[in-house]
Amino acid sequence: MVTLIERYRSFLPVTDATPALTLGEGNTPLLRARQLEQQLGCRLFLKVEGMNPTGSFKDRGMVVAMSLALERGAGSVLCASTGNTAASAAAYAAASGLRCTVVLPAGYVAPGKLAQALVYGARIVAIDGSFDRALELAREAAERSGAELVNSVNPFRLEGQKTAAFEICDTLGRSPDVLALPVGNAGNITAYWKGFREYREVGKTGNLPMMWGFQAEGAAPLVNGAPVDHPQTVATAIRIGRPARGNEALAAARDSGGLLAAVSDEEIMEAYRLVASCEGVMCEPASAAPIAGLLRRVRTGHDLSGLTVVAVLTGNGLKDPATALASFTEPETVPAELSAVLRALAATA
Ligand code: F0G
Repeated sequence: MVTLIERYRSFLPVTDATPALTLGEGNTPLLRARQLEQQLGCRLFLKVEGMNPTGSFKDRGMVVAMSLALERGAGSVLCASTGNTAASAAAYAAASGLRCTVVLPAGYVAPGKLAQALVYGARIVAIDGSFDRALELAREAAERSGAELVNSVNPFRLEGQKTAAFEICDTLGRSPDVLALPVGNAGNITAYWKGFREYREVGKTGNLPMMWGFQAEGAAPLVNGAPVDHPQTVATAIRIGRPARGNEALAAARDSGGLLAAVSDEEIMEAYRLVASCEGVMCEPASAAPIAGLLRRVRTGHDLSGLTVVAVLTGNGLKDPATALASFTEPETVPAELSAVLRALAATA
């Protein structure tokens, strides 16, 4: 197996002294979404980042940040998280023999993510406050304790995450026309934009994509132009009111000729069901934001025809079963008889 770090070594801040670490991250599928294309009018690909080892794109950045923490002789790592960063940090810390502490907003982390962090052996600090406060606390605690901060304010996280842009270009033979993704703390949009630009510098792509970032309406500081003190959204992964890399996200949207826009929770949930039922890919609610954003653009009269669009599905839907089940009525229990199954078959024919 060629690891992510080996494959893109010349673009990464690693040396021969950097310990080799991998859980099999990266090399995720880029799926053509032919059913959704009919609704959107563009050529659409899904970058399925939920196929990473802990079920989200965070693993790309975490493997680089953790390798370098190991190289520097760190004993413990620390992060604030809406859930996925915590799961990823906990897994890579476990594989590295490092202690891991995660600071989470109590009550707003999907159960699958919490279960992951617990099982991988992280220490969990659930605060009575938001992600933004958790990040503030984690930054201060890292400074005082000497623990390595592995949030995306750590530049090595972005170095790893930019490899997703490389993979997309390697598969398509060029950059897409549009890269659509959810925006929370704004690390990922910053990383992708860096990746595409670096690939163009070395001639591996001739063009650059427009960066289209989507926030949830109740947590859209970059769209509103002001921090949000009490962010709210069903997409808990991006329930963030003060994005640490907000300025970089604004620059990526501006410099690429792209945009930052908001979508409602209803639109997110519609897109979430649609991507699963049309394409067979179950992502988490936050990951459906770019699909919701594309649908909204088409419905408000924008023509996407002729464009090659890549939507990044950032996390795996299995992390958040509660949200999935809440949007359906539970199947009724029937007698254990053939007639019941035949009735159901006839009803779906
Ligand atoms: N999608 C998912 C599934 C996420 O978990 C996140 C962020 C994002 C999108 C947004 O990415 O922050 O780089 O703009 N999750 C972080 C966490 C905040 O703690 O797991 P971003």
